[in-house]
Amino acid sequence: MITSTQRVQEIIDVEPEMQVSVLAPKHDHLMNSGWPWRGEVEFEGVDMRYTEGAPLVLKDFNLKVGGGESVGIVGRTGSGKSSVLLTLFRLMHIHSGTIKIDGVDISSVPLEILREMIATSPQDSIIYEGTLRDNLCFDLSGGGDAESDQQAWKALEIVAPELAGRFSQQGGLECDLGGGASLSEGEKR
Ligand SMILES: Nc1ncnc2c1ncn2[C@@H]1O[C@H](COP(=O)(O)OP(=O)(O)OP(=O)(O)O)[C@@H](O)[C@H]1O
Ligand SMILES: [Mg+2]
Repeated sequence: MITSTQRVQEIIDVEPEMQVSVLAPKHDHLMNSGWPWRGEVEFEGVDMRYTEGAPLVLKDFNLKVGGGESVGIVGRTGSGKSSVLLTLFRLMHIHSGTIKIDGVDISSVPLEILREMIATSPQDSIIYEGTLRDNLCFDLSGGGDAESDQQAWKALEIVAPELAGRFSQQGGLECDLGGGASLSEGEKR
C-alpha cells in the first residue's frame, strides 16, 4: 500500500506537459478534415537529446515516408530507433529540425490531437492480471456483452489460430491468464 502512495507521489512530482488541453480554434479544421489525410511523415534535420548537456541521440535525422508506405528502420541496439517514435508523439522535445505529418508541422498541433490521430504498438508486451477477455476488451465499457465477445474471439482466431484453439480448451474468454506467466513473448503480442 505504501508503494502505491510512493507511485502517486512520483506522478504528482512530474512536470505537466505544455499545451495538453489547449484546443486552439485554428486547429478545428484539422479535427474536422480528418487529418492525417495520407499519413506522409517527414523528418527534416531533427536533433534530439534526452537531457540537457547529454550527447545527441538523433543527429540531423532526415526521413521521408510516403502515405500508405511500410518502412522498416533497422540499426544496432541503442542506435535510436525507438527515439524516432518518441519524437513523433512529442514525448521528447526536439532540439532542432521539423517533423511534418501530411505537411503539417506537428509542433503546432495540440498534443491531444496529435496523440489521438496516430498510434503505435509498444516494444514491450503487457498482459494484465485477469482473464483473456480483460486483456482483449479493455475499453471503458469492459466488454462482456455477446457482441464484443464474439468480435474479440474472431480477432483472436484470425491473428493467432493456435492460441484460440488452446484457449478454447481452457474456458475461452474466461481463461485466467495469470499475468501472462505461461505465455511466450510472441504469444503475448
Ligand atoms: N529515457 C532515456 N534517457 C536517456 N537516454 C536514453 C533514454 N532512452 C534511450 N536513451 C538512449 O538513447 C539511445 C537510443 O536509444 P533507443 O531506445 O532509441 O534505441 P533503439 O534503437 O530503439 O534500441 P533497441 O533496438 O535496443 O530497442 C541509447 O543510447 C539509449 O541509451
Ligand atoms: Mg527500441
